[in-house]
Parts: sequence; structure tokens; C-alpha cells
Amino acid sequence: LASIDVDLSPIAVGQSITVTWRGKPVFIRHRTEEEIAEAQAVPLEDLIDVQSDDERVEQPQWLVMVGVCTHLGCIPLGQNPNDNKGEFGGWFCPCHGSHYDTSGRIRRGPAPRNLEVPAYTFIDETTITIG
Ligand code: FES
Repeated sequence: LASIDVDLSPIAVGQSITVTWRGKPVFIRHRTEEEIAEAQAVPLEDLIDVQSDDERVEQPQWLVMVGVCTHLGCIPLGQNPNDNKGEFGGWFCPCHGSHYDTSGRIRRGPAPRNLEVPAYTFIDETTITIG
């Protein structure tokens, strides 16, 4: 499907879901206040692929991104509560050790870029169309 609609209303604060879009996993996380604050507090000069958290979200509580490591394409861990989320509390790619922060930005390891944010829009308060 070229585009998909996702109902965000069942996703509790602190929970993540994975949907499939154009054959790829898309991670959707309902971020906690702490995760948002952490993402916003990172100095831009600390980043490998410089992007502010604001540039990566439509609404701060909802992080939407393609769940494919930008190194060689493994699927990072971090969607499940017991997953290793890496040293920056977001996602961790176990293939070669890339650590992503609570904005999905690459912070350590071989991945060159942040997890990709797909094109999406809110069509009402709790529904997005991806693609
Ligand atoms: Fe993720 Fe290499 S594919 S670190």
C-alpha cells in the first residue's frame, strides 16, 4: 500500500507499536515526558547526524520512524519493554552496535544517519496517514 492510516489512540504513554508500510517496519512510540525532555535537551553539537528533536516530530509525544538501521538494515531493538535500548535509552541495533536516542538519532556506533522519519500527517487528533 502506498499509504496507510494508523489509529494511535490504543497506544499508551511509554508504549510502542510496529506497523508495516511499503514492506518496512515503522516504529511508532508514544513518548513519555522524560523521553521528550531527554531528546530536546541534547546539544546539537553532540549529534552525528544533526537534527533537532523538533524537526523529527509533528507532535512531541509521537515519534514515527522507519525501524531499519541506517548502517546495514537490521531492525533495531527497543520496541518491547524488556529490549536493550542502548546507551541513549532509545533503540539499539545488535548487528554491529548502533545506539539511537529517544528521538531515534544515531549517537554511537557505525550507523551514519538517524532513523528515517517517513512522510506522515495527522488526519485527526489520534490518526496519522503514513506515506
Ligand atoms: Fe545496525 Fe550494522 S545494521 S549496526
